[in-house]
Order: sequence, then C-alpha cells, then structure tokens
Amino acid sequence: MKTLIINASPRKNGNTAFLVNELKRNLKGEIAEISAYYDGIAPCIACDYCRQNAQCSIRDKMDAIYADDFDNVVIASPVHMSNLSGPLVSISSRLQVYYNSKRFLNNKINPRKKEGILILTGGGDGSAECAVKSAEIMFRLLNAVHPVQNNVFSLNTDKLPAYQDNEAIKKINEIAERINVKF
Ligand SMILES: Cc1cc2nc3c(=O)[nH]c(=O)nc-3n(C[C@H](O)[C@H](O)[C@H](O)COP(=O)(O)O)c2cc1C
Repeated sequence: MKTLIINASPRKNGNTAFLVNELKRNLKGEIAEISAYYDGIAPCIACDYCRQNAQCSIRDKMDAIYADDFDNVVIASPVHMSNLSGPLVSISSRLQVYYNSKRFLNNKINPRKKEGILILTGGGDGSAECAVKSAEIMFRLLNAVHPVQNNVFSLNTDKLPAYQDNEAIKKINEIAERINVKF
C-alpha cells in the first residue's frame, strides 16, 4: 500500500503538520509526501498542451501526483480565506490534465481508483465549506473515493490546537486502522 500526502501548510510544526504526522505514525505501507509550499510546484500556465497530449508540459514535483502509483491520497490543508491554502489551489490547477483528457482525449489518462482523505485545520469564525468543495474537485479528478468518514477537521485551532484536539486525533487513528486492514 502506498499513500501520497499533499501537505499544504506553510508551518512545518503547525496544526496541519501535527495531524499529518499522527496519520504517518499510524499508517502502514509506503508513504510519500509533497509540500505545496516548499516543493516548487508551478501553477497551470494554460498552455493547452494537455488538450493534445496526455500529460502536462511542465516537469516538476507534480510528477509525484501524475505517477499515479498510490492507493490513498491525503489532502491536508489549513483553511485560508475560507478555502484551501493558495499553493494547494495552484496544485489543483495542474489537475486540468485529467479534465482535458476526459474532454478532449477520449479518457486517455485513467487515474487508478484510490481512497481520498481530507485533513483541514482552521482557526477562524468562517466555515470550511469552500475548502471542502475545492478538495472534492481534486478528489474527483484524481479518481479518489472520499467517504465522509475520511474527513478530519480541526477547525477551532485558535482555541484548541490540533495536538489537543482529541476528537480529530481519534478520527485519524480510526481512518488509519480501517485503511491498514484493507491492504
Ligand atoms: C492567511 C490566513 C488565512 C486564514 N483564513 C482562515 C479562514 O478563512 N478560516 C479559518 O477558520 N481559519 C483561517 N486561518 C487560520 C488557520 O486556518 C489556522 O490557524 C490553522 O490551524 C493553521 O494551520 P497550520 O498551523 O497548519 O498553518 C487563516 C490563517 C492564515 C495565515
């Protein structure tokens, strides 16, 4: 079993990192992680190359996602301005390759079926609804099933930091347990 984690927090020891580490500690199998902030992944430049070719024209760490060699994909992000963090939205634009494959290339790229897990942390008054919707678009393009039990939300980190959020920690452990027995 291989799990790819897309970590979209700028804080290397923040709330999102804590929950990601908790999952990593409990999950079996191979784990790969990419950072939306520190791995230099470019945004889509709308070159339209992927309308004619079943791949992206840009070569960077996004290739870890395009390799499509993982069974689980984890999207882990702080809520920024009610949405996923900016660099993660930027990464999601690179999934246009999958959209265009369907629309223009007769489904030439068929991402393997996988499981999607969403970790969101927030510390404001607003809702996480937009962030969830944006993550769902990513899961859909990646062909990841994303049942509600795969959501881990720690949305009051201003009052209760993730490392004290026992409910979120329990949820992470339950997800890891369930996924571990599947493989
Ligand atoms: C630029 C920015 C925008 C933010 N916007 C929101 C928001 O819209 N809603 C919210 O609940 N929290 C918001 N927050 C708070 C973070 O989501 C919260 O502190 C989160 O736990 C940070 O996770 P981290 O420690 O992994 O960076 C924002 C923080 C920053 C830095």
